Amino acid sequence: MAITRKQLLKSALAAAPLPILLAGGPTLARAAGSDAAPLDPTPMCDDGDETHEQIEGPYFKPNSPARTAIADGLPGTRLTLSGFVFGIACQPIANALLDFWQADNSGAYDNTGFRLRGHQFSDARGAFTLSTIVPGLYPGRTRHIHVKVQAPNHPVLTTQLYFPGEPRNSTDTLYDPALLMTVRTVGSGREASFDFVLNVTGTPPTSTPPTTPTTPPSTPGGTTWAAGHTYAAGDRVTYNGVTYRCLQGHTAQAGWEPPNVPALWQPA
Ligand SMILES: [Fe+2]
Repeated sequence: MAITRKQLLKSALAAAPLPILLAGGPTLARAAGSDAAPLDPTPMCDDGDETHEQIEGPYFKPNSPARTAIADGLPGTRLTLSGFVFGIACQPIANALLDFWQADNSGAYDNTGFRLRGHQFSDARGAFTLSTIVPGLYPGRTRHIHVKVQAPNHPVLTTQLYFPGEPRNSTDTLYDPALLMTVRTVGSGREASFDFVLNVTGTPPTSTPPTTPTTPPSTPGGTTWAAGHTYAAGDRVTYNGVTYRCLQGHTAQAGWEPPNVPALWQPA
């Protein structure tokens, strides 16, 4: 099996100290690949292109809690899903929002609370990890995990991830082999990986989240949204003359202005 540019970059992301990685970017991947496998000289992600979109389905709920472990205390086979968020030049995307939701061990969604729901942000290397359980089956569908992924200041990608070797993969009309995770059994649990490729151009991000605020002019009588400020659920801010209510606590950063992140802010 040929080693691809994305796999090489991923190895570099996992192994290299961050300053070296950021200095190298895709060039590092090309250099590493020169004596390993022939690679396309273009800087595009060449082994999967953009991650395919899928329907949201009927069970999405906004305002999920911020957490990477969404199945604490629930019965089921433990599953750790990890991977990276890339742009189309294979550049890692830091601070991407990943919002996961799935069925429980018996195939049921929690539509009143937030069991098996949670959002997180990719780290400076674009990496994420989700601790969960293998979702159960429910009528009409093969086994899957729902996710929304959003790079700062970019549209939301809604999709679903699938498990290899599932009998129902061949009968579920939504199933897409391009969205198969790599899954292996480790002890009594499973370890899965999947890398998202978003339609985001540009250069690799800096090693720290952007801190330059894009603060609009202050609104008399209101609290103006500001990067670097920590907000709690229920806080109200104004941004470009519009009042927003904070849905969940977070520290604001450039690129996550209220109109850009409906998971965090709702017009009040
Ligand atoms: Fe579903």
